Amino acid sequence: MRGTSVRMLLSLPRIPLVHGPTPLRPLSRLGAELGIDLWVKRDDMTGGADAGNKLRKLELLFAEALARGATHVVTCGGIQSNHARATALVAASLGIRAVLLLRTTSDAERGARPSGNVLLDRLAGAEIRWVTPDEYRRRADEMASVAETIRRDGGTPYVIPEGGSNALGAMGYALAMCEIREQVARGEGPSSRNGIAFDSIVLACGSGGTAAGAMLGAAREGVAAHVVAIAVCDDEDYFRAAIDRLCGEADARYRLPGPSLTSLDVIDGYKGPGYAQSYPEMRATMLRAARTEGLVLDPVYTGKAFHALCTEGRALGNRVLFLHTGGLPGLLASGADLADDLRS
Ligand SMILES: Cc1ncc(COP(=O)(O)O)c(C=O)c1O
Repeated sequence: MRGTSVRMLLSLPRIPLVHGPTPLRPLSRLGAELGIDLWVKRDDMTGGADAGNKLRKLELLFAEALARGATHVVTCGGIQSNHARATALVAASLGIRAVLLLRTTSDAERGARPSGNVLLDRLAGAEIRWVTPDEYRRRADEMASVAETIRRDGGTPYVIPEGGSNALGAMGYALAMCEIREQVARGEGPSSRNGIAFDSIVLACGSGGTAAGAMLGAAREGVAAHVVAIAVCDDEDYFRAAIDRLCGEADARYRLPGPSLTSLDVIDGYKGPGYAQSYPEMRATMLRAARTEGLVLDPVYTGKAFHALCTEGRALGNRVLFLHTGGLPGLLASGADLADDLRS
């Protein structure tokens, strides 16, 4: 199953941001309850306040930004965007100005006391520009226009798309698959069968870059034959197209052939009422994970992905790897939503 190593195919400039390798651990108690051999890759531990899946993408994206002499980075996301927060903190650490286009729906949201990711954005000195959902739909144009203003003022902008999800950002997760392969080879994971460690790798999907990177590396690196992307917004068709496009761009740009060895499932039945909106069964799973394994999930991304994993259970295979992609600041901003659940 294994082709050429992703690491051999890629000699991309990277700035070291990830505190890696992040732990690969069994979740024995929950696994026993679900009747599967369940493991977690703790990419919520890639760093400190900047931690989460975005750091793997930003290692490559900021290397390119620095190589192009960027004075500013421009990016976008929802009001509690983990990606925007990681970008703001990394930019500050490199002496680069961050401009964040954050989507809000009301003046009340805009005027609220900063919490969670917004608090960290502000601490990092990022410039926040609030955009309406309508403006956000035209985010590429909006960011291009901010970049143009920066250029006119003598700066050098570098635009990072939503979620850091372009071909370069996605490579961060192709490389993460190498890290897992090395951990398995050192005996830190389950023993491989037919050269493959896990039946499937389950992850939250918000812009598709993490799933695309996993698709490019998972089977090639002997990590998993199957990627299961749990949509937290949009739907299956949207993400299949997005992941396909990212894999195609990666092939064109880095000659990393398409993910023909890995199969993809996009499951969109666990979004609940919508993006960043929680529901009781998902919140119950968050409590179960925290109380059974000390595994802290967030209500926007990892809570929904892990709830899908627990519900689908054995249908995902016998040896399942959950990719924990972070999101703690978002959880800390949503205490009010969980208040009732915490009474039990
Ligand atoms: C905590 C967390 N998990 C998962 C994701 C999804 O990753 P991607 O945007 O690469 O699909 C994001 C960002 O969107 C995130 O912040």
